[in-house]
Amino acid sequence: MEGPWVEKYRPRTLDEIVGQGHIISRLKRYVEQKSMPNLMFTGPAGVGKTTAALALAKEILGENWRQNFLELNASDARGIDTVRTNIKNFCRLKPIGAPFRIIFLDEVDNMTRDAQHALRREMEMYTKTAAFILSCNYSSRIIEPLQSRCAIFRFLPLKGHQIKERLEYIAEKEELDYEPTALDIIAYLSEGDLRKAINILQAAASLQEKITEDTIYEVVSRARPKDVRRMIKTALKGDFMDARNLLREIMILQGVSGEDMVDQIYQEVSRLAMEGVLEAETYIKFIDSIGEYDFRIREGANPRIQLEALLATFLSE
Ligand SMILES: Nc1ncnc2c1ncn2[C@@H]1O[C@H](COP(=O)(O)OP(=O)(O)O)[C@@H](O)[C@H]1O
Ligand SMILES: [Mg+2]
Repeated sequence: MEGPWVEKYRPRTLDEIVGQGHIISRLKRYVEQKSMPNLMFTGPAGVGKTTAALALAKEILGENWRQNFLELNASDARGIDTVRTNIKNFCRLKPIGAPFRIIFLDEVDNMTRDAQHALRREMEMYTKTAAFILSCNYSSRIIEPLQSRCAIFRFLPLKGHQIKERLEYIAEKEELDYEPTALDIIAYLSEGDLRKAINILQAAASLQEKITEDTIYEVVSRARPKDVRRMIKTALKGDFMDARNLLREIMILQGVSGEDMVDQIYQEVSRLAMEGVLEAETYIKFIDSIGEYDFRIREGANPRIQLEALLATFLSE
């Protein structure tokens, strides 16, 4: 069994990291100076926060980085006390063969305010021997005293072309056979999250010899937008039975969940409105019923029945 590509292709150096140029150049300056303040990495998932922390630690601490680097997850199920004990044990010892030690604390926004205050005290206690890198999705959930003790780095979602280039690089290394548009679709579906993109690519590669657009939709259990559009248009024409059959095909054959289906219907209806195929007034009515059926499905009603009922509301227009 082959390991996950997200790990296999995790950049080992700062230079190899895709995008985030504004951040990487500042981090490289710390490497040149062989010193760094406490850092806070914020931003969405899968954009390089952990990767940057690891690469920085390796480059700034040198060959003994392993002994001088501690990675902890703040939302550790065993509780913040375990996290603090780990930090204490790690910081009590002098750095070995490196100027200082680095503690990387992931998901700090999941810590309670009390725990964050305790962490702040820890940071103060070990300023001489250790630097902290805190990572979170939202800096607004971090207490002010912690924020003010860190240089803040805001990681951005990766751009479509950056994701595509990385996927092309991996595809070449893995000698994959693929339709170029398949990678565009992965980039689109992964919404700036490169971890997600690489996982989709690996899943698709394990499914079929040649990666096509269809493989991708199958892997992510999303319907092809053109199928959803055809279903909606069929309903608009008043052909309920055909629209219903299309719905069943998409849901059963492609394994699309009820929630995703409503979401995709919403997206296609919105596109039809933007293209002027639907009048604003009709669009507004549709949004209203989509909202209603979305709610029912999320509350646990049978998704197939609800989606058929939703299609029925399109007929009357
Ligand atoms: N900016 C990036 N450049 C290259 N690879 C990346 C980047 N961001 C994410 N990845 C890929 O996704 C995986 C997860 O990234 P990670 O840095 O752990 O994300 P997070 O921001 O959630 O900490 C990495 O192992 C790597 O394969
Ligand atoms: Mg991470």
